[in-house]
Amino acid sequence: MKFSKEFLSHPATASSIVPSSKILSSRITNMANLKDAEVVFEFGCGSGALTRDIVSNLSDGVVFIAFDANSTFTEIVKRKYPGVIVINGSAENVEKYMKQYSIDNVDVIISSLPWAAFSHAAQSRLLRIIYRILNSGGSFLTYIYLHTFVFPGQSRFRKILNRKFETINISNAVWANLFPADITKCTR
Ligand SMILES: C[S@@+](CC[C@H](N)C(=O)[O-])C[C@H]1O[C@@H](n2cnc3c(N)ncnc32)[C@H](O)[C@@H]1O
Repeated sequence: MKFSKEFLSHPATASSIVPSSKILSSRITNMANLKDAEVVFEFGCGSGALTRDIVSNLSDGVVFIAFDANSTFTEIVKRKYPGVIVINGSAENVEKYMKQYSIDNVDVIISSLPWAAFSHAAQSRLLRIIYRILNSGGSFLTYIYLHTFVFPGQSRFRKILNRKFETINISNAVWANLFPADITKCTR
């Protein structure tokens, strides 16, 4: 309910009317191979639909930080997962928070950010930052709604990923999600 209300107030950034399904969430965490990670970030945690699966797949001692630009969502995630560091801020400022927590590099970034809605400049800027903070061999995962293929922002985003990352794997479509999506895993 809260999620739909936030969608109506911020449709471009929230980008979906309901949280991701359990199936999408477990597919993305399986692809992320979290058991070997030491530092994991989630960008765009929303009300915590993926956070639950991420937290339950982390090994002991892993540093995990969830980010969202919307404070209504970060308050919800803080309440649901009291042990998790939750930051209310844009993913674009991630390096500022890394300094604050003395983190040099990240092993896995799981993103729900609405890439197709971002400008070309915003996509490029954020992907440059993501590439810079990832460890060599680290991975960046994002789901992309299939219907957004009609938006120029989506093909632009995929082109930048292809240019930037050494290896890219795309899952089969996850139909049991509103909206159906595929998952792209980029490895540095
Ligand atoms: C589609 S929702 C995903 C929520 C949740 N992870 C899920 O899968 O149900 C996208 C989220 O990205 C957040 N967001 C959008 N732009 C952002 C940015 N630049 N930095 C951090 N969060 C952002 C929105 O506030 C929203 O909660």
